[in-house]
Amino acid sequence: TRAADAKKLIIRKNEVPSGDAKNIIYQGEPAVLINRPEKGFIALSRTCTHLGCLVAFNKSRQELICPCHAGTYDLEGSVVSGPPPKPLTVIPLRIEGDTIIIG
Ligand code: FES
Repeated sequence: TRAADAKKLIIRKNEVPSGDAKNIIYQGEPAVLINRPEKGFIALSRTCTHLGCLVAFNKSRQELICPCHAGTYDLEGSVVSGPPPKPLTVIPLRIEGDTIIIG
């Protein structure tokens, strides 16, 4: 439907090279689109599940790190270490040709 389409975000694949990430705003909330080597694209909420600080993609570590209490997540959004009680929220996406449609 048109209402559903309005909530989607379209990003060109070549905006996010393999091993890199791009911060996005999805439905008013900070999120990150990551191009995982071998595994492809994933979109995750940046809101830490501990106390809500914004996690940041760390390219050299290939992890997401929370600046507040050093919570660490892998590129699936799963908790690696620190206080976060649960994974980051995964935002659905699909690939169509050269574009990534998020939402
Ligand atoms: Fe992210 Fe505490 S708010 S680790």
